Amino acid sequence: MATLPPSVGRRSRNWIPGAKGVLWIGLLAPVFILGDRIFLFGRLTGGDFVDDPVELIQHWTGNTALILLLVGLASTPLRRLMGWHWTIRFRRLVGLFAFFYATLHVVSWFVFDHQLALNPIIEDVLERNWILVGMLSWLLLIPLALTSTSGWIRRLGGKKWNRLHQLVYPVAALGVLHFLWQTKLLERDPVLYSAALVLLLGVRWLVRKK
Ligand code: HEM
Repeated sequence: MATLPPSVGRRSRNWIPGAKGVLWIGLLAPVFILGDRIFLFGRLTGGDFVDDPVELIQHWTGNTALILLLVGLASTPLRRLMGWHWTIRFRRLVGLFAFFYATLHVVSWFVFDHQLALNPIIEDVLERNWILVGMLSWLLLIPLALTSTSGWIRRLGGKKWNRLHQLVYPVAALGVLHFLWQTKLLERDPVLYSAALVLLLGVRWLVRKK
């Protein structure tokens, strides 16, 4: 786990708890917007009428998970290029919320598409490659979420923990591939996510520690 230089830590300490509160609100906002659009017909947030709530849930949770994964990946380039060491203080929370939204996304598919019936779930995973890719992405995300606590960082040691958490790169790549693959025709959003991922990986490679 990368640690902050002491001077940066001291300077950041004052505003970090407040910023974390704001971040919590921002990270929970998609749940409230989704709830409002489904149960209150968008009265609070001004959304359109929803004719297919399941589609909306899958769209909203899948996109939020992917965006948060990419935001989490931006922390290392931002620290190395801009010296924004404080971003590391928020990375874990962003990563955990990426897992939260990915899990809502997967659970909505278990429940609404398959009514929790195991055989159809297995068949769907084996028959549709883009579902298999999504499943791999989610399964790889589980150990990252489980080991995100300070206790696990101590138990594994910084080096091992960092190595394990490099898995976030294949997780994001599989998430982007899952989206690209299901659209068939290249649509704007998956192409934008792919470009963002390539850019983040490229910058990370350029500013890697020698
Ligand atoms: C078991 C794993 C997963 C399953 C079964 C699954 C299933 C689905 C389904 C059924 C859709 C809707 C497709 C449609 O519109 O017909 C979808 C869309 C999507 N999924 Fe997943 N998914 C999984 C994992 C993930 C993960 C881990 C991520 C993110 C990291 C993700 C991101 C997305 C995105 C961005 C979309 C497109 C939403 C849209 O704009 O319509 N999925 N997925």
